[in-house]
This record gives sequence, structure tokens and C-alpha cells, in this order.
Amino acid sequence: MVTRSVYLTTPIYYVNDVPHIGHAYTSIATDVLARLYRLSGAKVYFSTGVDEHGQKIEQAAGKANMTPQAYCDKISDVFRDLSRAMNISEDVFIRTTEERHKLAAQALWTRLVERDQIYLGSYSGWYSVRDETFFAESELIEGKAPTGAPVEWVEEPSYFFRMSQWQEPLLAYYLQHPDFMGPDSRRNEIMRFVEGGLRDLSISRSTFKWGVPVPNDPDHVMYVWVEALTNYLTVLNFPDMEGDLYKTFWEQATHIVGKDIIRHHMVYWPALLMAADLPLPKRIFGHGWWTREGQKISKSVGNVIDPFALVEQYGLDPVRYFLMREMPFGKDGDFSDAAFKHRVNGDLANDLGNLAQRVLSFVQKQVDAKTPECGELIDADRALLDMASALPDKLLALSDHQEIHKICESIWAVVGEANRYVDAQQPWALKKTDTDRMQTVLYVLMETIRRIAIVTQPLMPESCGRMLDYLGVPEGLRDFKGLDTQLVPGTALPKPEPIFPRIE
Ligand code: MSP
Repeated sequence: MVTRSVYLTTPIYYVNDVPHIGHAYTSIATDVLARLYRLSGAKVYFSTGVDEHGQKIEQAAGKANMTPQAYCDKISDVFRDLSRAMNISEDVFIRTTEERHKLAAQALWTRLVERDQIYLGSYSGWYSVRDETFFAESELIEGKAPTGAPVEWVEEPSYFFRMSQWQEPLLAYYLQHPDFMGPDSRRNEIMRFVEGGLRDLSISRSTFKWGVPVPNDPDHVMYVWVEALTNYLTVLNFPDMEGDLYKTFWEQATHIVGKDIIRHHMVYWPALLMAADLPLPKRIFGHGWWTREGQKISKSVGNVIDPFALVEQYGLDPVRYFLMREMPFGKDGDFSDAAFKHRVNGDLANDLGNLAQRVLSFVQKQVDAKTPECGELIDADRALLDMASALPDKLLALSDHQEIHKICESIWAVVGEANRYVDAQQPWALKKTDTDRMQTVLYVLMETIRRIAIVTQPLMPESCGRMLDYLGVPEGLRDFKGLDTQLVPGTALPKPEPIFPRIE
């Protein structure tokens, strides 16, 4: 069997400010996918990092009275801390101030020059520093960028990328590769945008210095987006295209991004790659945005959610689960305290937590803290076990389309069924009438919980790890391969503690 390769990326986050819940969200979602693919035995490469160049960062450093480099060193550490605090399992954390990134970005530029894709002109038009994006007059809304950010008039010599040439090739590519962009709503939005025509893109700036110098013209720095997008190649050691990393992973790339930056990823990036004669990533997925109690999250409203504080208050795994379950991946959603409490108490404390706790503590008392014996199975037993066994294939198929909320739903359908099975089989009543059958029922339940815990690890690594400890599952048998084994009757079990506390 050929081992599948999967390359997953998050956007690289701007270091002009400290991380907020939106950054944590994208990173956790990508992490869930990476962990799931790893469980399945795939070869996974998962990258995240920070975007450190550009006018916005230069200005933020100035405000903080620091050099841009010192400022970037400081804030990028906070983003690294975010990865640790959210239990993100990235294989590489890229900073765009690294020398290797400068080389990669310049190599892409040179490939474009060699193919006559870049010319020197002069730019005059609107620029939003906050979005680091140029806007046409016709795109402005009441004198502001469509994002609401202020724009300023920019007039300067600039290199241009012949993006207008790539309109037709892009549209043809989109049509031939229906899975290239997701979800469908964003795919449609991007197709309409490209059908509307593409203008050549200004890809250098000459009025400030904080960026990667344009090869052979030190008066210009590369436009930060062109440079930043290259990070996805940098971490594969581009321009070395003969190495294992590039060869194994580049064409298996899935970029996970927020809806705010789909134009850069679904239009500019593939156009640049086509023009540089490089293969395109496999898929780009644009997820939705969180609001807070119905309002846009912003510093000026003062409703920013600090991911560190949230985890401090509730523990990490409930936060990870809530973020993945509450909002369909791809749609917008709302973060409210009531919804958070409802999910954590309902899905975690009541449904999964109670299931594990009542089964495991019953086994402690009634089966001498050992894995029960399994007698003959009846249809109800087999039905539950089969439902749990069907999860891995189902979850992998959902992962390929980034349907993370459906991953949660599918697992919780089995949790619900297991709870109904407990009620129907009544192991506590069997204790008085048929202890052999009681053991079989408990065994079936422990097996079901084992299967649930294994596939739920990507969502809640730490909590599911504990659950597997209580079930006596050895470390080496916690992946999809391990699902083919079975619990061994008679194994001594540790005393279980409740895993998901209620929020009062
Ligand atoms: N530096 C660029 C990306 C370059 S990638 C080559 C950038 N950085 S950012 O710091 O602004 O991060 C934007 C990303 O943060 C969004 O695409 C999204 O993934 C995440 N989010 C920011 N706010 C968000 C919400 N309110 N809700 C969900 N995610 C959001 O853009």
C-alpha cells in the first residue's frame, strides 16, 4: 500500500498585534486535520508561523519604539506560545525574517522575471495598510476598503506582475478542478471575481524598507503578500525542488485560511505559481469568521477574546471542542458564553463524560477493576460496535473536505447510541440476574468508548489520552491500526477520574 502524503498549512499570522481567538481557531482546525491524518498512517507535514514584513509591521514597531526586528522577535514568540498553549502539533514554524525565506521569495521572483512576468511601472492608487492590499477606486465603500480599513493614496515606482494574462488559465483551472477551492460558496465568489477581469498586480514597494529586497533592485522591497505566500514553499526547502520535502509534499498541499484572505490565496497565489511554471497546491479552503455575542470582534469594540485567558479559565480541550463543533467549518458563527456552556455541559460533561465515567466506575466496583470478559454477542452489541468501527473511514472522507463539524457530529452520533445502549441493556440490573451478560455489556461499552476515544484524540488530545489510560490501552495502539486490536479481558485498570467537569 502506498502511504498517503498530506501537507497542511495555516496562514502565517501578522505580528503587528498579539494573537486572538481567530488565529487560535485556524490553527486548531488545521491541527485537528493533521492529527487525524497522522492517526490514519498518512505522512503529514504541517506548517504554521508568522508574517513579519510590510508597512503594517514597520508601523507597529515604530509605535512600540522598537526596531522592526526586535519587535518581530518579541511578538513572534507570543505566537509560538499560542501554538504550545493550543496544543498545535506543527512540524515547522516559519518566520519570514529567516534567511531561507528571503532566498525562497527571491527565487520565486527570479523565476517570474525569467518568464517575462514582471515589468517596472509606476503605481498610483489606493492602499490599505491594515489589509496590506491595493484596492480599485470602484471597490471602495464610503472612502474605505471593503473591510472597513482606512486607505491611503499611493504613488510610487513599482514592479508589476502580469496577472491580467492569467484570467483565462485560472478560470479553466478552476473548472477542471472542482475541488481546488472550498467551500462551494467561496469557490463561486472567487470565480465571479476572476470572471470580472484581472488587472496587473503591483508587487513591489519603494517608499519603505521593511521587506525582502527585490533581486537586482535594492530600491524596492517585495510586496508583502507575494513574499508571504512563498512561505508555503520555503518550509519545503524551495528552491530546492529535488529534495524529499518538496517532492513528497508540495502537490499535496491544502491551505487552510480565513475568508478574509481567499482572494490572495485563490487568485494571486495560483496565478503567481502558474506564471512561475510551478505546480499548484491541491486545495485551498476558506473558513468563516467568529463574532462575539453577535458582534464583530474588534479592538475598538473591546470584545476581543484572548485565547490564553479562555484556556486558563476552562481548560484547553473544551475550548478546542467548542470551536470545532459550534460553527460549521466554512460558515460564520457566534461565540457566546451561553453556547459555550451549553456545548461543554451537554456534549462533554453529560454525553461523553458521563458515558465513560459511569461505565468505568461500574467496572471498578463490579468487575474488580479489570477489563470484563466478553461472552457471546447479540445483535444490539454488534450494531453498536459496527457503528463505532465505521468512524475512521467516515472521518477521513470528511477531512478531505474539511468538514470538521461533521467529524464532531459523526462521533457524537455514536456517543448518543452508546448512551441509549446503556439504558437499554441496564448493566446494573444484570448485576443481580446475569453477571456474565453484565460483563459482556460492559465489555462492549468499553470497546465502544475505546474506539470513540481513539478517533476523538485529534479534537481533544489530552482528554482522550486520559480516557485511553483508564481503558488500559497501550500507547502504541492508539492509532487507526490499533483499532483493529481489542481490549484484553482481565487487564488491570487504573481508577478513573471525571474527565470533563461541568461549567456552573
Ligand atoms: N499575514 C496574513 C496571512 C498571510 S498567509 C500567506 C494575515 N494575517 S492575520 O494575522 O491577519 O491572520 C488572518 C487569519 O486569522 C484569518 O485568515 C483567519 O484565519 C484568522 N482570523 C482572524 N480573525 C478571525 C475571526 N474573527 N474569526 C475566525 N478567524 C479569523 O492575514
